[in-house]
Amino acid sequence: MPTGNDDTASSEDTPKGADGEMREDAVVWTRESIYEMMRNRSRDQNFRFVGRDIVITERNVGDMTAIGTKLWTTAEVFSQYLESGIFPLQDKKVIELGSGTGLVGIVTSLLGADVTLTDLPDIIYNLEPNVAINTRGVKHPPTVCPLAWGVDLHSFPKAAHYDYVIGSDLVYDADVFEGLIQTIKYLSDADTTILLGFHLRVPDRDLKFLNMFTNEFKVVKEHELPNQGKAVRLYEARTK
Ligand SMILES: C[S@@+](CC[C@H](N)C(=O)[O-])C[C@H]1O[C@@H](n2cnc3c(N)ncnc32)[C@H](O)[C@@H]1O
Repeated sequence: MPTGNDDTASSEDTPKGADGEMREDAVVWTRESIYEMMRNRSRDQNFRFVGRDIVITERNVGDMTAIGTKLWTTAEVFSQYLESGIFPLQDKKVIELGSGTGLVGIVTSLLGADVTLTDLPDIIYNLEPNVAINTRGVKHPPTVCPLAWGVDLHSFPKAAHYDYVIGSDLVYDADVFEGLIQTIKYLSDADTTILLGFHLRVPDRDLKFLNMFTNEFKVVKEHELPNQGKAVRLYEARTK
């Protein structure tokens, strides 16, 4: 659950003197300067999971192209679902794809799993400190490393076996569906559980992914995530 959030407004954004009058040296915001400020804005989101306060730093919150430095709704509901104990995670070997700001991998680690969180190389600068700050003292210290889907998979230092391959909100760009599926396949064996939670946004595109996914994997169960109706789904699957 989010327990508060440092939203975009702060006292420094208000160009007024103590008496409420505009000061001569006050900054006058224009539409352009506000957009620019929003683009570069960082903020912290606070959560409480597994009895711990978690602080997730998001960056470039107003930049529509900065996908991996923002926290997406699926991450929060997926984390709640994992926290409910639906999947045994204690001492399990887990790899997360497209971890973004890290919430799901962090909660998985707090639940006792041995987790590797991955994302594109240029997302790691934000992911790594989020993971370090929020997983102090866990039984299996998590690892963070770059992994671009479908690229140089053979040079990725994969473990002999993963109990789970997980991902939150990875289905939004049809250009990378093939690479994503290849990567899941590469990391999975007959005993791996694949958990993909995603926000259903564009029916044709979502269906295209599901067709590609079910060609390669057997969907064991389609879970509804708490309070999301049909908007956010969690697919539990295995290799065929
Ligand atoms: C919508 S975000 C979801 C982030 C996070 N899992 C969450 O739910 O908050 C999608 C994530 O996939 C990552 N991603 C996109 N394309 C990728 C690729 N080709 N290889 C690896 N990661 C990728 C992005 O960097 C981003 O972190």
